Amino acid sequence: MTDPNRSGSPEPRFRRLLVTGGAGFIGSCFVRDVLARHDGTAITVLDKLTYAGNRANLAPVEADPEQAARFRFVHGDIADPALVGPLVAEADAIVNFAAESHVDRSILEPVDFLRTDVVGVQVLLEACRIEQQRVAAGERPTPPRFLQVSTDEVYGSVDDGASREDDRLEPRSPYSAAKAAGELLAHSYFVTYGLDVVVTRGSNTYGPYHYPEKLIPLFVTNALDDQQLPLYGDGLQRRDWLYVADHAGAIGHVLEHGGAGEIYNVRGGNERTNREVVATLLRLLDKPWSLVREVEDRPGHDRRYALDGSKLAALGWTGSVSFEAGLAETVRWYCANEAWWRPIKSGEFESYYRRQYAARLAGSSEAAE
Ligand code: NAD
Ligand code: DAU
Repeated sequence: MTDPNRSGSPEPRFRRLLVTGGAGFIGSCFVRDVLARHDGTAITVLDKLTYAGNRANLAPVEADPEQAARFRFVHGDIADPALVGPLVAEADAIVNFAAESHVDRSILEPVDFLRTDVVGVQVLLEACRIEQQRVAAGERPTPPRFLQVSTDEVYGSVDDGASREDDRLEPRSPYSAAKAAGELLAHSYFVTYGLDVVVTRGSNTYGPYHYPEKLIPLFVTNALDDQQLPLYGDGLQRRDWLYVADHAGAIGHVLEHGGAGEIYNVRGGNERTNREVVATLLRLLDKPWSLVREVEDRPGHDRRYALDGSKLAALGWTGSVSFEAGLAETVRWYCANEAWWRPIKSGEFESYYRRQYAARLAGSSEAAE
């Protein structure tokens, strides 16, 4: 029999993980990277496969027999207690990536955001509470750890400076309000029931396997087809960009080393205006600025996010991928993986795209460079 821990790396603290939303963008990166450590960790992914979930994101794992033996996929909803209970019962830790994640969709139709990002989180927490009761009854040795993947958007728009973990939460979109509610519920289970809960608040993430509704993958794939690039408002909004493998690595670090009841910002350290991002990706693709259209702004558009990352740095984690290197790799990946994104940009995506952009593009003007 082959040794499942052939990495030579230290034994992981948690050997059996339940990764919810593991077929999405960041969750699938986490799953691929953890299983590729070959340290014996076994992962069950629970994913509803919404429009954003994609089994193809996990194909590298399923193609490797050693990793596939430590991997299981369950198709289902985190808001379904009957499904969630037994999966949580067999896990040492739960990492919850599952969410409706797109701000524009939350503005069009908020209801799914409440169901998954709030009620779904509460269902997972209740299942953890039952496991804690089983510990008290001597039926399992330790309760599971619960890591809630949250977002910098819970701080709202930050005019200057950088948000610290104890800053006031001022979410301003249905998406960020639902995410804030989800993480506050998680914290309440730590305070009230003593559950082992940790929260991460990550900044704008980019990289391979990113569903092409978000700024970077949408603009890269549109530009490859010489289609217009709908830039909201003046394009001077600022985001702090974090490469996906760095985000997934930070979540793994917090899972292993984070203190119960603690919250950790995960910053990218790459603050850019949207205009700067678009100019860089057009340069990498050798496409002209004339593709960019200035369109009607997102309602309630947060002007800037920025995180103070000193708490996570003190815990021993800092990112390693610069924006220039990460964006070059991302562009290279989309150029090489049309078979991944072309099927996505048809069907449901086309009707969403029309709803979100048709009127905006019809009323757009050329964006001055
Ligand atoms: P994503 O939209 O790519 O993936 C979400 C995944 O969750 C999909 O696989 C989807 O099928 C699954 N899912 C949705 N509803 C579900 C449900 N009810 N039950 C089970 N599975 C369900 O999202 P992402 O960009 O990978 O984000 C992952 C997490 O990270 C989210 O919680 C998001 O709020 C958070 N986050 C994202 C970013 C970012 O820039 N992308 C930054 C900070 C935090
Ligand atoms: O900050 C973390 C958040 O980052 C995550 O919690 C969210 O899940 C994730 O979607 C992302 O939210 P944003 O709204 O910042 O990302 P998005 O890619 O949608 O937009 C980035 C910026 O680009 C934002 O200022 C809006 C702008 N934009 C976006 C799109 C899709 C445009 O100008 N045109 C567009 O077509």
